Amino acid sequence: MKIALGADHGAFDLKEAVKKHLDEKKIEYVDFGCFSKESVDYPKYAFLAANAVSKKECDFGIICCTTGLGVSMAANKVKGIRAAVCTNPMLAEMTRRHNNANVICMGQNVVPVPEALELVDIFLSTEFEGGRHQRRIDLITDIENGKEIS
Ligand code: RB5
Repeated sequence: MKIALGADHGAFDLKEAVKKHLDEKKIEYVDFGCFSKESVDYPKYAFLAANAVSKKECDFGIICCTTGLGVSMAANKVKGIRAAVCTNPMLAEMTRRHNNANVICMGQNVVPVPEALELVDIFLSTEFEGGRHQRRIDLITDIENGKEIS
């Protein structure tokens, strides 16, 4: 499993904590930045990490900003990306089981680090259920491709 990591300055510390956590679990990752707490624009880092998932260079993305909101909006503009802002364990589990989310977004000012690492573990270990949920994801893909839904 390979993870794409991205964060802006507002979540630099959270990304560093996630890296340490993945190191301990011997999970491979690519860090797409940012690389300091100097102010940057979050869409760039959301795009770089999400694009690696979209191109199947990475299996999942973990993308963070102060709130998790801005990076999720940017990541969800990348083809094939289903990015979910997760703030509690149930959301991290359900967005894998039902939405087959491939990116988890978290906010450094929203979720304390220990809880964020728990969300990462849940997200990375929960399987998609498929079945009726695949049909619904196919509809999301149709919307992405500009198909009219009636
Ligand atoms: C940066 O100040 C902040 O706007 C960003 O980290 C993020 O929370 C945006 O949604």
